[in-house]
Amino acid sequence: MVTVSMTVNGRQVSKEVEDRRLLVDFLREDLGLTGTHVGCDTSQCGACVVHLDGKAVKSCTMLAAQADGASVKTIEGLADGAELHPLQAAFKEHHGLQCGFCTPGMIMSGADIIARHGSDLDEATVRLELEGNICRCTGYHNIVKAILAAAGEMGGGMKQAAE
Ligand code: FES
Ligand code: FES
Repeated sequence: MVTVSMTVNGRQVSKEVEDRRLLVDFLREDLGLTGTHVGCDTSQCGACVVHLDGKAVKSCTMLAAQADGASVKTIEGLADGAELHPLQAAFKEHHGLQCGFCTPGMIMSGADIIARHGSDLDEATVRLELEGNICRCTGYHNIVKAILAAAGEMGGGMKQAAE
C-alpha cells in the first residue's frame, strides 16, 4: 500500500491505495468521479483521458502513485459552476455526442488540442490529434466540428483553460 496525495479538480485529496492502483480506478472508485470512463483494456480508446498538470493523459496507463503530487483535472472539473465550459457547450450545440460514452475523453483531449494549437487549429489537425480517442458510434464529424467551433471561440485563451 502507498499513500498518494494530489489535487483533483482543485481539491486536495490524500488516500492509501494499493501500489498497482491505476489512476483511472483511483478517480472513479476512490473519489467517485465516474465521468472519466474505461472503454478498453488496451490503452486505445481514450475514454479515460484527464489532464495531469495541464496535459492530456490516458489515466488507464498510469498508476495513481505516479500522479502523487500532481494536479489532476477531470471532466467534472471543467465547467465553471453551472456554466458549461465552451467545449462542453460546443459539443451540445454541434451534436458532438451520440451515446456519450467517449465524450468526457473527447472533451478533455479536445481541450488539450486547443490549448496547444489555439486558433491555428484546422480540421486535419483535429482529426490527426484525435487518433487516440475512439468513438464507437463513429460520429467523428460533429465531434471535430465542435472542437473547431470551441477553438474559434476561445483561440489562444484556451491555453490556461486546459490547465
Ligand atoms: S480506458 Fe484508457 S484508453 Fe481505453
Ligand atoms: S458518442 Fe458513442 S462512443 Fe462516442
